[in-house]
Amino acid sequence: MRKEDRKVSPPIQPKQEELLSETTLRPKVLDEFIGQHRIKENLKVFIAAARMRKEPLDHILFCGPPGLGKTTLSTIIANELLVNIKTTTGPVLEKVGDLAAILTNLSDRDILFIDEIHRIPRAVEEVLYPAMEDFTLDIIIGQGPNARTLKLNLPKFTLIGATTRTGLLSSPLRDRFGVIFRLDFYTPQELVQIVHRSSKLLNVKIEEEASLEIAKRSRGTPRIANRLLKRIRDFAQVMGEGIIDLNITKKSLASLDIDNYGLDELDRKFLHILIDKFNGGPVGIEALAAALREDKETLEDVYEPYLLQEGFIERTARGRLATDLAYKHLGKRSPQSLF
Ligand SMILES: Nc1ncnc2c1ncn2[C@@H]1O[C@H](COP(=O)(O)OP(=O)(O)OP(=O)(O)O)[C@@H](O)[C@H]1O
Ligand SMILES: [Mg+2]
Repeated sequence: MRKEDRKVSPPIQPKQEELLSETTLRPKVLDEFIGQHRIKENLKVFIAAARMRKEPLDHILFCGPPGLGKTTLSTIIANELLVNIKTTTGPVLEKVGDLAAILTNLSDRDILFIDEIHRIPRAVEEVLYPAMEDFTLDIIIGQGPNARTLKLNLPKFTLIGATTRTGLLSSPLRDRFGVIFRLDFYTPQELVQIVHRSSKLLNVKIEEEASLEIAKRSRGTPRIANRLLKRIRDFAQVMGEGIIDLNITKKSLASLDIDNYGLDELDRKFLHILIDKFNGGPVGIEALAAALREDKETLEDVYEPYLLQEGFIERTARGRLATDLAYKHLGKRSPQSLF
């Protein structure tokens, strides 16, 4: 199963239809962006300085699990700098020419946003090195002994890259970013504010306790909070008066199979397999991936970060380990508790 197909606690990777509604809910300026205070404070300074000097912003890398605001921050930066943003993704840049075409079409101070930057083919990535460092493009013309390198000057642009994990990036690429920002999961308080803001934009009434409930069950992720809000709005429309209260919220979340921790069927399956099939670990990620019929990358990017942060699993040198909390959550006895 691919990330995009993840169905239950609704797909973390957005579908086309959702991308459309994401744009309505997406904050446009830094002040509308909730949470990630350290990143915001830093960005404010960098943006102000770049504007004063009329220079491009330093290249920026955003990393962190899906749905935390990497794309949102990139578009906000472009808005705040009043510059154009061109968007592409790593896997689309198949050939050197694809990237060269984009780079030569930029204007001074434009932003080039490359999503999933860790998935750029190596040969294409190498074109980025001189482009980022000296704003030049080295093109090889001709073949064999007649081959020559041509140096082209590029506009002074800013590259913003997004990736789910910095570890996936080659170090030459990583080193060429002036700043690397790691996005963290949001606190329930921050998510309450996000739900509040989104409900206003969606024109739906929601009670305070209901916002908190959604916030607590969104795995620290704004995208999930927004998605749950939209689903619960449907329930409220059909079963109630259209107002989202705690009762409707709890019922809807139960129908969506989302438990008190915000874990969905697939998260629980992860824990079940870890505990039942591998005796709680330690087990290597490859074996887990095979048992779950998932790819390793999806497990590492989508499932694990939240399970780790909430203390359901631990990552040790010998592999993944289920914690007492995981046993307890699934209503099982941990081997530790027998002694
Ligand atoms: N800090 C925030 N405040 C308010 N809304 C937010 C915030 N961060 C994200 N969102 C909402 O969550 C949605 C998902 O965010 P975004 O697309 O930026 O995530 P992402 O990190 O780029 O995810 P992916 O890795 O899947 O590309 C946005 O449409 C936006 O509505
Ligand atoms: Mg994104």
